[in-house]
Amino acid sequence: MKILRDIAALRAATAGAGPIAFVPTMGNLHEGHLALVRLARRSGHAVAVSIFVNRLQFAPGEDFERYPRTFERDCALLEPEGVEIVFAPDEGVLYPEPQAYVVRPPPIADELEGRFRPGFFLGVATVVLKLFNSVQPAVAVFGKKDYQQLHIVRGMVRQLNLPIEIVAGETLREPDGLAMSSRNAYLSAEERAEAPHLHRALLEVTRGSLAGEGAMRALAGAGWKPDYVEVRRRSDLAPPGPGERELVALGAARLGATRLIDNLEFDAP
Ligand code: PAF
Repeated sequence: MKILRDIAALRAATAGAGPIAFVPTMGNLHEGHLALVRLARRSGHAVAVSIFVNRLQFAPGEDFERYPRTFERDCALLEPEGVEIVFAPDEGVLYPEPQAYVVRPPPIADELEGRFRPGFFLGVATVVLKLFNSVQPAVAVFGKKDYQQLHIVRGMVRQLNLPIEIVAGETLREPDGLAMSSRNAYLSAEERAEAPHLHRALLEVTRGSLAGEGAMRALAGAGWKPDYVEVRRRSDLAPPGPGERELVALGAARLGATRLIDNLEFDAP
């Protein structure tokens, strides 16, 4: 497994590796990331993983500084998965000068996550495009855990004619239903015990026993600060019209200092 820190070395390595299947990450890897790596391997291509905590997608006051950085451990997890390339640039490599050219995502990026994290998807789309241009993959794998991110990346690839197939990986869950996330590491023992409530609330929404607002009230009653729980159309994340069947329930809520997100796809009866 080659660990590469700059774009010239990366390009030299990918040039001889044939088509690349790429998994972008911010590190602090868990089983959910490894499932995406395994999905990438199924393409039959050489697998490249990036590890880069992207300041551009964090608002001031968010957890950029304290985001867990566990590079040695991440590499130890990736090596046995047959990953050929780890691209781990410093900030100065990916952003050698202030980033004046950015990807402005469409208005859906201002809803759901974007309503509470202004500029988040501009930061994500911009770094993903820079990573795509650096790695030049044939396939890139993104988790459904970040459902809106997956939607926005798909749209960017389609509208900017990037020759990359986007593959979506299912969300991995702990036995109690909590979606795996690097941010779960922030939870105290008490918060960890409460955390699966977000998944349970979304399940109730998919079963029709709670509307989004009811789910938010239930979470607030249990000590959460919910940002949103909403049902959207899977195809474009717009609010569903009558008779619409292919839906997704999405939610985000703060438990103590930790903000968790989750979603569940479902078909309306
Ligand atoms: O999902 C993530 O970990 C990040 O948003 C990504 C796609 C690696 C871009 O920084």
